[in-house]
Amino acid sequence: MDLLPIKDLKDFSCQPAHKDWKDRPDARPEYLKINTIPSSELYKLRALLIKQNSLFPPAKSQSQMAQEASGNSLFERLGYVFHNYSMDPQSLLAIKEIISVLRPRVVLELGSGISTVVCADHMRQLYERDSQGFCYVTVDQSAEYISETRALVDRAGLSDFVKCLHSPVVPYIFGASGFSCYQFNEEMLFDAFNGLRPEMVIIDGPVGGGANGVPFARLLTAPAVRRFCVPKACVLMDDALRDTEIEIIRHWEMSKALHIQGVKAVGRGLMIGYIP
Ligand SMILES: C[S@@+](CC[C@H](N)C(=O)[O-])C[C@H]1O[C@@H](n2cnc3c(N)ncnc32)[C@H](O)[C@@H]1O
Repeated sequence: MDLLPIKDLKDFSCQPAHKDWKDRPDARPEYLKINTIPSSELYKLRALLIKQNSLFPPAKSQSQMAQEASGNSLFERLGYVFHNYSMDPQSLLAIKEIISVLRPRVVLELGSGISTVVCADHMRQLYERDSQGFCYVTVDQSAEYISETRALVDRAGLSDFVKCLHSPVVPYIFGASGFSCYQFNEEMLFDAFNGLRPEMVIIDGPVGGGANGVPFARLLTAPAVRRFCVPKACVLMDDALRDTEIEIIRHWEMSKALHIQGVKAVGRGLMIGYIP
């Protein structure tokens, strides 16, 4: 695919936000010291392999995912059953560790589900001894799945901290190219965050290059939200070892929409990047 000039896209990337977003007073984003596959090595490796999705691990069975998640009382309490769309338990664990190190208080998630309650529950435990609280906003393309997540959030007792927003996927046309992505509504996000800039973004939607997915549906996510975020905010993307997501990462890096640290080889691949 030719490089999409992300930095030139109207309403994306370098365009200023319309609302008066504020940094949380003691937000101190920092870079992680963490082992990842550097993006340059990932592109080289991908180019050497002929078969489609050679680096993308085969889907785990539901019982394997349940086994990996066992011992976690949250899943038992919620009676959650893992399925093909759930985030891999190993990726959930890695994100929890990253949250423990970076300690974000304002988090935006794209693509809701079990990841929403796992991350928000972890943040509740991290911050239970102080009064500042935190804010976790999750966005989903589907009215049905966002209400399922809302029910999970209620059952986990997290509704004071988590806001669940529905944002359908719509087409965006750029010259001869068309892409689908969430209908980003700055006003809705601004209200959900009380005007505070997100310090971390977790991307696990829209449904991407897998079965029933739109192959480059995540391409516009980071460029669209970066203007609302704190500089150096950490951006994580799941499914990063899938061919379409590797191509998306290359686009983000080349267009300087994100600084890419690399991909952690957990689950289906977890990209770690930062808002420049
Ligand atoms: C990769 S999933 C997001 C998973 C979520 N982060 C989690 O950990 O459960 C991307 C999208 O798939 C959709 N989805 C979730 N469950 C689904 C299912 N069982 N069948 C079809 N689509 C589903 C939702 O709209 C969701 O935002």
